[in-house]
Parts: sequence; structure tokens; C-alpha cells
Amino acid sequence: MAIKLVIISLYLSPVKNIIIFASGAGSNAKKIIEYFTGETEIGVVLIVCNNTGAGVLKIAEDYKIPTLVIEKENFFLGDHYIPQLKQYRADLVVLAGFLWKIPHALIEAYPRRILNIHPALLPKYGGKGMYGLRVHEAVIRAGEKESGITIHYVDGHYDNGDIIFQARCPVKPQDTPETLAQRVHKLEHEYYVGVIEGAVKGEQFF
Ligand code: GRF
Repeated sequence: MAIKLVIISLYLSPVKNIIIFASGAGSNAKKIIEYFTGETEIGVVLIVCNNTGAGVLKIAEDYKIPTLVIEKENFFLGDHYIPQLKQYRADLVVLAGFLWKIPHALIEAYPRRILNIHPALLPKYGGKGMYGLRVHEAVIRAGEKESGITIHYVDGHYDNGDIIFQARCPVKPQDTPETLAQRVHKLEHEYYVGVIEGAVKGEQFF
């Protein structure tokens, strides 16, 4: 009887769950976790990572968030991890510096519920191999006067889904890829959480 009640209340629970996928340092993941810490109705329930040396795993440990370290072969093998992910009853999947392409099975499991952030103004400077400092190097090399961030839905291609939000910043004449990266990172930390909050609460962006 008690178990039945727990199961029923879980189903009726207003709590919204977020899963974060990250491969690296995890500064965006940290911001997201901190933003929702203390929130009773929205929480980060799992960090998925493909790199055992990633800083984001230490962040997960610090905040006592469960982690799932995935292996390439299994990740791209049909729907291998989906039953495990489904146990977390996620309303939204958030990519925060996750470097593998999301397989179709995962996109179908979370239709219109996977977001990504990219450190440039898509559709320029995106696609396979465009990550980290390479993005900012390309922006500077092209002589762009501004750069920024793009938050978009994830489809089956790198950095390609419908764009939800963009914010801009200047590219200064003296910028190096590192200084531009810092300015862009600030925008990411400022804006990603707000878009995530809207998406997880069911806001329609289109
Ligand atoms: C961010 O610049 C994000 O736009 C990109 O990967 C980077 C992750 O940085 N997708 P961090 O690990 O969150 O610091």
C-alpha cells in the first residue's frame, strides 16, 4: 500500500527534472545546478559524461548529483542508455559542452526537449569540429565585429536545430581566442539558465 502511494505521488509530482550532458570543465553545468539549488520544483537529477577526466564529474560530486559515464560504442548503439535515462523522469535534457553527436534514438526519446548552447552566432561557426577555442579562432580570423551565443533545440546534426535564443558581444581588435572565449562564456552563464527554466516549465518558443 505504502509503495503504491509513493509511486502515485511520484507520477503526480509537480517536480521538473533536468539531465545535463557535459564533456569538459562544466562551468555551465555548475551555473545550472546552482541556479536550481534550493528550488523545490525544478532540479538537476543526473549528469551524463563521456570523459572520465572531465571537471564536470567533480562538480557533480560536490553537489551530490548522480553521474552516468557513458561509453562511445554503447552510446551510438541504438537505444542502449535510454532505459537508464528514463528512470530519471527528465522533462528536459540540457547539453552543456557535450562533444558527441546525439543519436536519433535519444532525440526521439526526448522530442523537442533537448537543448544545446553554442559559443557563436549560428548558423555561422558551427558544425563538426567547431568547439572550444577553434570557434573563437575562426571568428577572429574571419574579422567578425561581433560574436555571441546560440541556444537551440537539438536535431540529428551538429549545431543545427531551431534557434531559441541568441545574445551578442563585440569582438575587439585586440582579442585573442582566449579573451573572446571569456566574454562569450559570461553570456552563456548569464542566459542559459533562463532559457532552461522557460523550457522546463513548458514555455513554447515558437
Ligand atoms: C561552452 O562554451 C558551450 O557553449 C560549448 O561548450 C562549452 C562548455 O564550457 N558547447 P563549460 O564546460 O561549460 O565551461
